[in-house]
Amino acid sequence: MKRLVLTIVSIAFLMGTICAQSVKIPLIGSKAPSFTAETTNGTLTFPDDYGKKWKILFSHPQDFTPVCSSELSELAYIQKDFEKLNTKIAIISADNVIEHRRWKTWLEGLDYKGRGSQKIEFPLIDDHSHSVSIQYGMIHELASTNKDIRGVFIIDPNNVVRSINFYPMQVGRNMQEIERILVALQTADREMVCTPANWKNGDDVIVPHYPYTDDELAANPELKDSYYNLGGYMWFKKENKSLVMNDNSK
Ligand code: BEZ
Repeated sequence: MKRLVLTIVSIAFLMGTICAQSVKIPLIGSKAPSFTAETTNGTLTFPDDYGKKWKILFSHPQDFTPVCSSELSELAYIQKDFEKLNTKIAIISADNVIEHRRWKTWLEGLDYKGRGSQKIEFPLIDDHSHSVSIQYGMIHELASTNKDIRGVFIIDPNNVVRSINFYPMQVGRNMQEIERILVALQTADREMVCTPANWKNGDDVIVPHYPYTDDELAANPELKDSYYNLGGYMWFKKENKSLVMNDNSK
């Protein structure tokens, strides 16, 4: 009997591992998978309907759950920041659009953190069939076979996946961190730079090559106003803090 139970548990574990291994996640640098679905804002063809904007796709395990509700309330509170960053938000949850509408109405009536009612302008995508979740590798079968984990895909204006984050069911996302990654990517593209650890909008950035030789620096002392070296490859470019578009240090 003990042997039989052990065999069944081993087979179940093996099956789970095989299923988990077959999850396909669109990787950084790949084209964002396209889909058409019903949403709380009408039919959406993603990502094409958002044209040359940045896009962020968030997945949620289930409507009306407390952690997800806190996340949507936080997103609603800072949705105007994303708009200023030329970015559209879309939400997947493996429920149908009727349930999404009920959840949206309930969330809009919630006084989360004493901020009063917040309108939700971004769409909640019907994914009761899980087809979008599967395209984006949001179902991690060892965590749950029928609920999405908390996924975040940041997609650029050319519809290329630029950042992927997965969070466990139990941990609500830090929306300021998502905004920080978006601003860092936009800064990296605009200035052909990288951003150091714990970078915040307005902090100095890293130049991923030697910008000037010692001779050039000696001949052009004014360059020291823009660049400095901390040793080795660690070249930094000073950022003009007065040009910071959006204070994402809130
Ligand atoms: C939540 O959003 O509260 C939640 C959803 C699924 C599992 C655990 C928590």
